[in-house]
Order: sequence, then C-alpha cells, then structure tokens
Amino acid sequence: MRDDRLDAAPLDARAFGRVRQLIQETSGIVLGDHRTDMLRSRLARRMAATGCPDLPAYLDVLGGPGGGEERMQLVSAVTINVTQFFREAPHFELLRDEVIGARNPAQPLRIWSAGCSTGEEAWSIAMTLAAAGLETGEAAVLGTDINRGVLARAATACYRTSELRPVPALLRRRFIAPVPGGGQIARTLQERVGFRPLNLIADWPFRAMFDAIFCRNVAIYFDAATQARLWTRLLGVLRPGGWLFLGHAERLPESLLAQVRYLGRTAYVKHPAAATP
Ligand SMILES: C[S@@+](CC[C@H](N)C(=O)[O-])C[C@H]1O[C@@H](n2cnc3c(N)ncnc32)[C@H](O)[C@@H]1O
Repeated sequence: MRDDRLDAAPLDARAFGRVRQLIQETSGIVLGDHRTDMLRSRLARRMAATGCPDLPAYLDVLGGPGGGEERMQLVSAVTINVTQFFREAPHFELLRDEVIGARNPAQPLRIWSAGCSTGEEAWSIAMTLAAAGLETGEAAVLGTDINRGVLARAATACYRTSELRPVPALLRRRFIAPVPGGGQIARTLQERVGFRPLNLIADWPFRAMFDAIFCRNVAIYFDAATQARLWTRLLGVLRPGGWLFLGHAERLPESLLAQVRYLGRTAYVKHPAAATP
C-alpha cells in the first residue's frame, strides 16, 4: 500500500538533507538528487515501520537511543543491490588463469568479495576455483555486505532459474542442484564460502591478508575521498602480488598507482614490494 507520509506535505528540505547526511556518514553512500524519489519512498517505509508521523520525529529516532540500529535499517533500505553471476566475466578469467596459477599450494587462497550483495559474486568465485580443481581447504571465499537482508539471501545459496542464466552451462551442471523454480549451489561449495556483515567504512576485523579482493560496483556510490580511503585500506589487506578487481566504472586514483600494476579491465596487481600503508 502506498504510504503518503512524505507525499502529503512539501519536503522539509533541511530534515531531508540531514537524512542524506546521516546515510553518508554511516555508509559512505551519497544519494544525489536523481535518487530523491527512491529515498522518499524508502524513508516513508522506515517511518511507517518505526511509527513516526513525520520526518523530524524520524530524525529523533535516528539520533536517539537505539538510533544506530535504525540507521543501519535505513542504509539497508537505500542500498543498490544489483548483481549477477559472472558479472564482468574477464575478472573470472583472470582469477582462473592468473590468481590460481600463482598461488602458494602450501597456503589456502583467501578471496574477499567486499560488497557482495546477494552472493552471486562470491559463488561465481567459488565455482571458478572449484572448476580449476581446488579442493575444500585449498581456498576460502568471504562475502561481506552492510545489508544483512542481502546476506541472508546469499546464505540460502538458492537462486531462481532466471538469476542462474549467466552461469556457464558446464558449471551449472556441476555445481547447481535443481530445486523447484531454480537451483541451489552445491554443498561442497557452501563449505568454502562464508557471508558476514561488514561496513566497509567502519573498522575491519582481519588479521590475515587476502590473495584477491573483488570490490566491484560498491565504491561507485561513495564520494572521491571515501573511495580513496577505501581503496587504500583494501590495498593494505591485500598481500604483495595480490589482485584487486574493481567495477568497470571504477578506477584507482593516481595517488595509489605506484603500489600496483594495472592489467586493464579494472584489474590491478599489487607490486610484490609495495609497502603496506
Ligand atoms: C551494486 S551491489 C554490487 C554487488 C557485487 N559486488 C557486484 O559487482 O555485482 C553494491 C553492494 O554494496 C553494498 N554496500 C554499499 N555500501 C556499503 C558499505 N559501506 N559497506 C559494505 N557494503 C556496502 C550494498 O549493500 C550492495 O549490496
């Protein structure tokens, strides 16, 4: 049902601006004017869920006790979660041809899908590794996202037939068990992939470095300073010689290029000697 909480009255521009600012401070996500309608409708839903009659009342909830949890709910309501299996396919070819070939067989490969949405990216990585012959225990994939709803979906490992279409037929036959209306990722792959909530602009809990990081189509929603900070930190947890994959519209800034070699197609290798910032 349509909620007219925000439609009835002209927008309180200051209160609306404050909501945008809180979203950016919490998640890094910048909601430009072209997203005003989307923000209005998602805000109306959050206001209904919290029983707030107007925007100032909702701002009180965001700033009050327990406001941190509601800020995360609001952020989750505005994240763009578009994704698909084997999106930007050349990255998976590089994973198969370069990353796996260069691994140290004595150590399991650690790969991070940062901003993994509903999991298609992490499962695509896991399928690529398994198809190349890596056994359970030889590779681990971590998928993280700020939005707990998409992570819950990722963890089901179940996808509709239409969502599974980009999976190459050979991999589909090998790694996806049919279920009514779609398929479920094979148990052997589920053992290698973990999903955890993580806000990329907050603290990270990692102690070990990653061999490869996929952080694609996430920083595109951040401003330039937040992007640069994120990419600096990603390089900090990437082992020397490790791979960083960005979305097709994302590029490392000049200031970080000395640490990497650009492979084209928004894929970078960290120089073996690059100092960890
Ligand atoms: C467009 S999806 C990209 C999914 C996948 N990486 C891909 O390229 O298909 C962007 C994801 O980034 C997540 N995201 C946005 N801001 C984030 C933040 N501060 N921390 C963690 N994840 C964030 C969103 O929740 C969303 O699921």
